Amino acid sequence: MVPMSERTIALVTGANKGIGYEIAVGLGALGWSVGVGARDDERRAGAVERLRAGGVDAFGVPLDVTDDASATAAARLIEGKAGRLDVLVNNAAITGGMPQEPTRVDPATIRTVVETNVIGVIRVTNAMLPLLRRSASPRIVNMSSSVGSLARQSGTAAERTTGLVAVAYAPSKTFLNAVTLQYALELSDTNILINAGCPGYVATDLNGFRGVRTPEQGAAIAIKLATLPDDGPTGKFFEDAGVVPW
Ligand SMILES: NC(=O)c1ccc[n+]([C@@H]2O[C@H](COP(=O)([O-])OP(=O)(O)OC[C@H]3O[C@@H](n4cnc5c(N)ncnc54)[C@H](OP(=O)(O)O)[C@@H]3O)[C@@H](O)[C@H]2O)c1
Repeated sequence: MVPMSERTIALVTGANKGIGYEIAVGLGALGWSVGVGARDDERRAGAVERLRAGGVDAFGVPLDVTDDASATAAARLIEGKAGRLDVLVNNAAITGGMPQEPTRVDPATIRTVVETNVIGVIRVTNAMLPLLRRSASPRIVNMSSSVGSLARQSGTAAERTTGLVAVAYAPSKTFLNAVTLQYALELSDTNILINAGCPGYVATDLNGFRGVRTPEQGAAIAIKLATLPDDGPTGKFFEDAGVVPW
């Protein structure tokens, strides 16, 4: 068994199910040690058990991305276990429930979604940054969505490639993309690469399993961005087919 000091250490938020779980599977298959960030004790323990049964060196990280104390405690747990963090995948997110027409939305829905999908990413990233700075090749992957691409939802019906009316969820991903760029700007003189990824339309709880891709297919872009070479891109938005316009 490779000692912890020589293993790549990753944390995936919202890794108990869906795409996050498959990201943990994929990173584990590389021989990495994977922290399973999840807020529910039972769901987290179940995921860790399944991952370990599949040969992944998984460990549980209690983490509610909306809670400052939880993010701080998660960083302390990883510091105690590994002393550093190499890869952070900010995957946890919610839709806030549909429908979300702008003309009828309850502003509370927008606050809740932004708290998880945007502020949650900032909270966890900032809690983990001191550990990431100790890595030789730190990577941050923000799971976004092409429904947050302003370019893809603008123009005539013929020009648009996404037209999801969801005034909390879709703009939360636009906001997350902008936040990703802000981090890339501030960290441009460091070795930290930070990018956003879109998994495509994946069959998970998030969309009532209406997606057309498997969670494993959705996880592929995160694994690619988690394993970028040192001269790889930063401050970009990718899907399997290449760059997504902001
Ligand atoms: N599915 C798609 O078609 C699709 C498309 C584009 C982008 N995405 C993005 O891909 C990512 C994964 O989505 P998914 O489809 O796999 O969704 P999912 O199956 O609903 O899983 C979401 C995960 O996030 C966790 N989570 C939610 N709020 C949390 C919180 N406050 N603290 C910690 N964990 C929390 C959930 O934990 P619980 O089990 O405790 O709720 C769950 O583990 C998300 O960022 C999503 O926006 C998905």
